[in-house]
Amino acid sequence: MKTTEALRARRTYYNIKKEIPADIEKVNEMIRELTELVPDAFNMKSSRIVVAEGEMQDRLWDTIYEAFAGKVKREKIDSFSRGAGTILYFYDRETVERLQKSFPEYAQNFPVWANQASAMLQLAIWSGLRELGIGASLQHYNPVIDKKVKELLDIPKSYELVAQMPFGGIVSEPEPKEREDIAKRVRIVG
Ligand SMILES: Cc1cc2nc3c(=O)[nH]c(=O)nc-3n(C[C@H](O)[C@H](O)[C@H](O)COP(=O)(O)O)c2cc1C
Repeated sequence: MKTTEALRARRTYYNIKKEIPADIEKVNEMIRELTELVPDAFNMKSSRIVVAEGEMQDRLWDTIYEAFAGKVKREKIDSFSRGAGTILYFYDRETVERLQKSFPEYAQNFPVWANQASAMLQLAIWSGLRELGIGASLQHYNPVIDKKVKELLDIPKSYELVAQMPFGGIVSEPEPKEREDIAKRVRIVG
């Protein structure tokens, strides 16, 4: 699949299952490879990834459910735990602070850049999963879940949680998206 095709095929998949059409080790390898390939500001390498799979996938979503003390419906949580795994995206605050000290004139930009680099990685992996025939969605239960999730997974204090990406086998395709006039958003000059 070409990059454009993988991007076109990437959608928000809520209806997922544990069985995936690829070896889980291939998924893990793709995640490692894309984390190396995706760029970031000053080449600071601030992104951190933790992937919950197998039993930890269920424990993670139980923990997220508990963190909300009933404010998020169990069915919603179960729709994510039904997947094969969840990719947790973090950036390392210590790395960001080191760069802020080295380049004080850009200090306020580094946390923004760390988030942007994470977003680039999120899209790359989201598309990479789809290329393997796997569906995913992007969730933001942070910051409510941060403390409990960090305890569960023994995550270093300096890691800032940015997003959660549950993934799994595709049960059903989402509805097609409405297309809009792209000229409203892109203007070519010259
Ligand atoms: C930065 C960002 C944050 C998002 N946060 C959530 C979220 O918290 N929960 C969710 O269900 N979808 C979330 N989404 C998914 C979008 O709603 C979805 O990508 C958009 O509606 C387009 O649909 P598509 O992914 O099927 O193309 C997020 C997407 C982006 C890019």
